[in-house]
Amino acid sequence: MAEMIRLDKFISSQRGDISRSDVKRLCAAGKVTVNGSAKVKSDMKIDPDDEVRVDGEKIEYKKFIYIMLNKPQGVVCSTRDGLSPTVLSLIPENMRRSGLFPAGRLDKDTEGFVLITDDGEFAHKILSPKSHVPKRYFVRLERPIGEEYAEKFEQGIFLDGEKCLPAQLEKGEDERCCFVTLHQGMYHQIKRMFEALGNKVTYLKRLSIGNIQLREDLLLGGCIEIMHKEIEKIAY
Ligand code: URA
Repeated sequence: MAEMIRLDKFISSQRGDISRSDVKRLCAAGKVTVNGSAKVKSDMKIDPDDEVRVDGEKIEYKKFIYIMLNKPQGVVCSTRDGLSPTVLSLIPENMRRSGLFPAGRLDKDTEGFVLITDDGEFAHKILSPKSHVPKRYFVRLERPIGEEYAEKFEQGIFLDGEKCLPAQLEKGEDERCCFVTLHQGMYHQIKRMFEALGNKVTYLKRLSIGNIQLREDLLLGGCIEIMHKEIEKIAY
Protein backbone atom coordinates (compact mmCIF):
# COMPACT_ATOMS: atom_id res chain seq x y z
CA MET A 1 0.00 0.00 0.00
CA ALA A 2 1.24 3.51 -0.83
CA GLU A 3 1.94 6.04 1.91
CA MET A 4 -1.23 7.64 3.33
CA ILE A 5 -1.71 11.32 2.62
CA ARG A 6 -4.04 14.03 3.95
CA LEU A 7 -7.02 14.62 1.70
CA ASP A 8 -6.45 18.40 1.46
CA LYS A 9 -2.78 17.87 0.60
CA PHE A 10 -3.67 15.21 -1.94
CA ILE A 11 -6.14 17.43 -3.79
CA SER A 12 -4.16 20.69 -3.65
CA SER A 13 -0.94 18.97 -4.75
CA GLN A 14 -2.64 17.64 -7.87
CA ARG A 15 -4.76 20.67 -8.69
CA GLY A 16 -2.98 24.03 -8.69
CA ASP A 17 -6.33 25.83 -8.75
CA ILE A 18 -7.59 24.33 -5.45
CA SER A 19 -5.94 25.41 -2.18
CA ARG A 20 -6.08 23.47 1.06
CA SER A 21 -8.63 25.88 2.51
CA ASP A 22 -10.73 25.45 -0.63
CA VAL A 23 -10.71 21.70 0.08
CA LYS A 24 -12.09 22.31 3.57
CA ARG A 25 -14.91 24.38 2.13
CA LEU A 26 -15.63 21.90 -0.65
CA CYS A 27 -15.73 19.01 1.84
CA ALA A 28 -18.20 20.89 4.04
CA ALA A 29 -20.36 21.55 0.98
CA GLY A 30 -20.39 17.82 0.16
CA LYS A 31 -18.53 18.33 -3.12
CA VAL A 32 -15.65 15.99 -2.37
CA THR A 33 -16.05 12.21 -2.42
CA VAL A 34 -13.63 9.47 -1.46
CA ASN A 35 -14.50 6.05 -2.88
CA GLY A 36 -18.04 7.31 -3.48
CA SER A 37 -18.68 8.68 0.01
CA ALA A 38 -19.20 12.37 0.68
CA LYS A 39 -18.70 11.87 4.42
CA VAL A 40 -15.21 13.24 4.32
CA LYS A 41 -13.03 15.70 6.19
CA SER A 42 -10.20 17.73 4.69
CA ASP A 43 -7.70 16.47 7.27
CA MET A 44 -8.55 12.78 6.92
CA LYS A 45 -5.82 10.46 5.65
CA ILE A 46 -6.39 8.63 2.43
CA ASP A 47 -4.53 6.12 0.29
CA PRO A 48 -3.34 7.73 -2.99
CA ASP A 49 -5.06 4.81 -4.76
CA ASP A 50 -8.45 5.84 -3.35
CA GLU A 51 -10.85 7.33 -5.84
CA VAL A 52 -11.15 11.03 -5.05
CA ARG A 53 -13.56 13.29 -6.89
CA VAL A 54 -14.17 17.03 -6.67
CA ASP A 55 -17.48 18.14 -8.12
CA GLY A 56 -17.67 14.69 -9.72
CA GLU A 57 -14.31 15.07 -11.45
CA LYS A 58 -11.76 12.39 -10.69
CA ILE A 59 -8.41 13.57 -9.33
CA GLU A 60 -5.62 11.56 -10.96
CA TYR A 61 -2.80 11.16 -8.52
CA LYS A 62 0.72 11.66 -9.76
CA LYS A 63 3.50 11.78 -7.25
CA PHE A 64 5.58 14.00 -9.53
CA ILE A 65 4.99 15.99 -12.68
CA TYR A 66 7.42 16.55 -15.59
CA ILE A 67 6.71 19.39 -17.98
CA MET A 68 8.32 20.20 -21.32
CA LEU A 69 8.35 23.95 -21.91
CA ASN A 70 9.38 25.59 -25.17
CA LYS A 71 10.97 28.64 -23.58
CA PRO A 72 10.79 31.90 -25.51
CA GLN A 73 13.48 34.57 -25.33
CA GLY A 74 13.08 37.12 -22.53
CA VAL A 75 11.98 34.54 -19.94
CA VAL A 76 14.30 33.52 -17.11
CA CYS A 77 14.95 30.01 -15.79
CA SER A 78 14.46 30.71 -12.11
CA THR A 79 11.58 30.41 -9.73
CA ARG A 80 11.58 34.14 -8.93
CA ASP A 81 12.72 37.29 -10.68
CA GLY A 82 11.71 40.84 -9.96
CA LEU A 83 11.99 42.12 -13.52
CA SER A 84 11.47 39.41 -16.13
CA PRO A 85 8.83 36.72 -16.42
CA THR A 86 9.99 33.32 -15.16
CA VAL A 87 9.47 29.92 -16.75
CA LEU A 88 7.03 29.11 -13.93
CA SER A 89 4.73 31.92 -15.03
CA LEU A 90 4.22 30.03 -18.31
CA ILE A 91 2.91 26.87 -16.66
CA PRO A 92 -0.81 26.49 -17.32
CA GLU A 93 -3.11 26.37 -14.31
CA ASN A 94 -3.92 22.66 -14.66
CA MET A 95 -0.23 21.69 -14.43
CA ARG A 96 0.65 23.99 -11.54
CA ARG A 97 1.55 22.61 -8.16
CA SER A 98 3.83 23.52 -5.33
CA GLY A 99 7.54 22.74 -5.55
CA LEU A 100 7.93 23.14 -9.33
CA PHE A 101 11.30 24.35 -10.56
CA PRO A 102 13.34 24.23 -13.79
CA ALA A 103 15.71 21.24 -13.88
CA GLY A 104 18.54 23.07 -15.60
CA ARG A 105 18.89 26.55 -17.00
CA LEU A 106 18.89 28.26 -20.34
CA ASP A 107 20.05 31.84 -20.75
CA LYS A 108 17.40 34.54 -20.95
CA ASP A 109 17.97 34.92 -24.70
CA THR A 110 18.07 31.15 -25.41
CA GLU A 111 14.96 29.37 -26.63
CA GLY A 112 13.83 25.81 -26.39
CA PHE A 113 13.38 22.80 -24.16
CA VAL A 114 13.30 23.43 -20.43
CA LEU A 115 12.23 20.60 -18.18
CA ILE A 116 10.17 21.67 -15.20
CA THR A 117 9.41 19.28 -12.38
CA ASP A 118 8.76 18.88 -8.67
CA ASP A 119 10.86 15.70 -8.51
CA GLY A 120 14.02 16.88 -6.74
CA GLU A 121 15.73 13.52 -6.79
CA PHE A 122 15.29 13.17 -10.54
CA ALA A 123 16.49 16.74 -11.15
CA HIS A 124 19.52 16.14 -8.99
CA LYS A 125 20.30 13.03 -11.03
CA ILE A 126 20.23 14.80 -14.38
CA LEU A 127 21.95 17.95 -13.13
CA SER A 128 24.76 16.19 -11.34
CA PRO A 129 28.15 16.89 -12.95
CA LYS A 130 28.59 13.13 -13.12
CA SER A 131 25.44 12.48 -15.16
CA HIS A 132 26.57 13.79 -18.61
CA VAL A 133 23.06 13.68 -20.04
CA PRO A 134 23.51 14.90 -23.64
CA LYS A 135 21.79 18.13 -24.61
CA ARG A 136 21.48 19.11 -28.25
CA TYR A 137 21.24 22.68 -29.48
CA PHE A 138 20.62 24.46 -32.75
CA VAL A 139 23.07 27.35 -33.16
CA ARG A 140 23.20 30.29 -35.54
CA LEU A 141 26.49 32.19 -35.77
CA GLU A 142 27.60 35.61 -36.87
CA ARG A 143 30.32 34.25 -39.17
CA PRO A 144 30.71 31.01 -41.14
CA ILE A 145 31.69 27.86 -39.25
CA GLY A 146 35.42 27.15 -39.47
CA GLU A 147 36.61 23.81 -40.83
CA GLU A 148 38.47 23.19 -37.56
CA TYR A 149 35.52 23.76 -35.19
CA ALA A 150 34.21 20.16 -35.02
CA GLU A 151 37.63 18.77 -34.19
CA LYS A 152 38.34 21.48 -31.60
CA PHE A 153 34.98 20.79 -29.91
CA GLU A 154 35.73 17.06 -29.89
CA GLN A 155 39.16 17.69 -28.33
CA GLY A 156 37.66 19.93 -25.63
CA ILE A 157 37.69 23.72 -25.71
CA PHE A 158 39.34 25.55 -22.80
CA LEU A 159 37.13 28.07 -21.02
CA ASP A 160 38.92 30.15 -18.40
CA GLY A 161 41.55 27.43 -18.04
CA GLU A 162 38.99 24.64 -17.66
CA LYS A 163 38.82 21.99 -20.37
CA CYS A 164 35.30 21.19 -21.57
CA LEU A 165 34.22 17.61 -22.15
CA PRO A 166 34.23 16.59 -25.81
CA ALA A 167 31.24 18.12 -27.63
CA GLN A 168 29.88 17.24 -31.06
CA LEU A 169 29.27 19.75 -33.83
CA GLU A 170 27.29 18.89 -36.97
CA LYS A 171 26.89 21.35 -39.80
CA GLY A 172 23.44 22.78 -40.46
CA GLU A 173 21.63 23.91 -43.58
CA ASP A 174 23.99 26.79 -44.28
CA GLU A 175 27.49 27.88 -43.34
CA ARG A 176 26.35 29.83 -40.28
CA CYS A 177 24.11 27.14 -38.74
CA CYS A 178 25.02 24.01 -36.82
CA PHE A 179 23.94 21.57 -34.14
CA VAL A 180 25.98 21.13 -30.98
CA THR A 181 25.69 18.36 -28.40
CA LEU A 182 27.02 19.04 -24.90
CA HIS A 183 27.49 16.54 -22.09
CA GLN A 184 27.78 19.08 -19.28
CA GLY A 185 26.35 22.50 -18.47
CA MET A 186 28.86 25.24 -17.82
CA TYR A 187 27.81 28.87 -17.58
CA HIS A 188 27.04 30.27 -21.09
CA GLN A 189 28.93 27.26 -22.38
CA ILE A 190 28.03 27.27 -26.09
CA LYS A 191 28.40 31.03 -26.42
CA ARG A 192 31.81 30.89 -24.74
CA MET A 193 32.96 27.90 -26.80
CA PHE A 194 32.29 29.76 -30.05
CA GLU A 195 33.77 32.95 -28.62
CA ALA A 196 36.96 30.98 -27.91
CA LEU A 197 37.10 30.25 -31.65
CA GLY A 198 36.54 33.89 -32.60
CA ASN A 199 32.87 33.59 -33.54
CA LYS A 200 29.61 34.75 -31.94
CA VAL A 201 26.31 33.01 -31.28
CA THR A 202 23.38 35.06 -32.57
CA TYR A 203 20.63 32.51 -31.88
CA LEU A 204 20.48 29.44 -29.65
CA LYS A 205 17.77 26.86 -29.11
CA ARG A 206 17.82 23.65 -27.07
CA LEU A 207 16.31 20.78 -29.04
CA SER A 208 16.68 17.78 -26.76
CA ILE A 209 17.62 16.51 -23.33
CA GLY A 210 18.76 12.89 -23.33
CA ASN A 211 16.48 10.96 -25.67
CA ILE A 212 13.61 13.39 -25.33
CA GLN A 213 13.17 15.80 -28.24
CA LEU A 214 11.43 19.14 -28.01
CA ARG A 215 8.07 18.57 -29.70
CA GLU A 216 8.05 20.34 -33.06
CA ASP A 217 4.38 21.24 -32.71
CA LEU A 218 4.91 22.91 -29.33
CA LEU A 219 4.64 26.66 -29.82
CA LEU A 220 7.03 29.05 -28.08
CA GLY A 221 5.75 29.50 -24.53
CA GLY A 222 3.78 26.24 -24.71
CA CYS A 223 3.94 23.37 -22.22
CA ILE A 224 3.10 19.69 -22.36
CA GLU A 225 3.33 17.05 -19.73
CA ILE A 226 5.90 14.31 -20.24
CA MET A 227 4.73 10.93 -19.07
CA HIS A 228 6.69 9.11 -16.43
CA LYS A 229 7.53 6.24 -18.78
CA GLU A 230 9.12 8.67 -21.20
CA ILE A 231 11.03 10.65 -18.60
CA GLU A 232 12.79 7.48 -17.58
CA LYS A 233 14.58 7.62 -20.93
CA ILE A 234 16.54 10.65 -19.71
CA ALA A 235 18.21 9.41 -16.62
CA TYR A 236 17.53 5.84 -15.67
N1 URA B 1 24.96 27.45 -23.71
C1 URA B 1 24.78 28.78 -23.66
O1 URA B 1 25.68 29.55 -23.94
N2 URA B 1 23.57 29.23 -23.25
C2 URA B 1 22.54 28.41 -22.95
O2 URA B 1 21.46 28.89 -22.62
C3 URA B 1 22.74 27.03 -23.03
C4 URA B 1 23.96 26.56 -23.41
